[in-house]
Amino acid sequence: MINEIKRLLKEVEELTAANAGEIEALRIKYLSKKGEIARMMNNFREIAAEQKKEVGQHLNILKEKAHEKINELREKFVEPEGAGGDFDLTRTSYPIALGSRHPLSIVQKEICDIFGRLGFNIAAGPEIDDDEHVFSMLNFPDDHPARDMQDTFFIENKQVDEPAGREIILRTHTSSVQIRVMNAQEPPIRIICPGRVYRNEAISYRAHCFFHQVEALYVDRNVSFADLKQALDFFAKEMFGKETQIRLRPSYFPFTEPSGEMDISCNLCGGRGCSFCKHTGWVEILGCGMVDPAVLANCGINPDEYSGYALGMGIERIANLKYRVNDLRLFSENDLRFLKQFTSAY
Ligand code: DAH
Repeated sequence: MINEIKRLLKEVEELTAANAGEIEALRIKYLSKKGEIARMMNNFREIAAEQKKEVGQHLNILKEKAHEKINELREKFVEPEGAGGDFDLTRTSYPIALGSRHPLSIVQKEICDIFGRLGFNIAAGPEIDDDEHVFSMLNFPDDHPARDMQDTFFIENKQVDEPAGREIILRTHTSSVQIRVMNAQEPPIRIICPGRVYRNEAISYRAHCFFHQVEALYVDRNVSFADLKQALDFFAKEMFGKETQIRLRPSYFPFTEPSGEMDISCNLCGGRGCSFCKHTGWVEILGCGMVDPAVLANCGINPDEYSGYALGMGIERIANLKYRVNDLRLFSENDLRFLKQFTSAY
């Protein structure tokens, strides 16, 4: 038996392997439960007692050598564990993809940054608001047909004998933040208010029951329509490129007088006319105007001393112009195939 052990020892000492698979095969051949060494252990039980000491010693040497050799072979193929070399032990073991911002967040931040450069500060107001802040104080009288322009979600139905202006509703526009800020602050006021708004509309590719707006308000002494136009031109060029032209058309909003709507030269065809701008060369992007003196007075600001301009735009609309998203619903479906397409420094 000693001779056989010696033969195995020689064999083990000369083992080589070309890859991890071969090492595993050698481990099974020598060290597994049915391997050569286990077989020798079984034989060992049957030998005479006086031989046990000597054979046992040889067997132990063989066993140790086999373990040593297999480990030595493994070290060649398996990367060393522990510190040292260029290994970064704090790294995760799998690559984590960096997330991207939602396209509406990117556009919202961009709009706020542009107005931030003009000195506007961010202001916020509640999404669940009352009829007074969303309509009445913005010069929409109780039975004003302009209230029909916006289909409102009501949180609580008005009681018949309740006074007007106390209905709890979801805000239909961010113009309500104007009122809250003017109620709370003295001019000069220069704010930009991004936020979500709600309207009771059937959901389709071009309308949704919630969307996002940015409202800007500037109130101070001697604020004129020229100041508004200057800010609009700056915004359009910063947002859509230096070559962008703006056009103002007269319009109507209860809280501004005069009111206007601003178009920009179509950023797809450069104003030459295409299907996107319905061959007009212009696309509408926002509503604006001089704050109606009655609105200033409603908020305790003297309209003889102060004047202001306001403007409001839909963030989805701007995002569509920038990214050509032709179905509004994509913005709220959380489809990663859509969301992963947007990366930005913002
Ligand atoms: N609140 C208007 C809307 O939701 C948008 C708007 C128009 C805001 C004119 C303004 C403004 O501040 O001056 O349709």
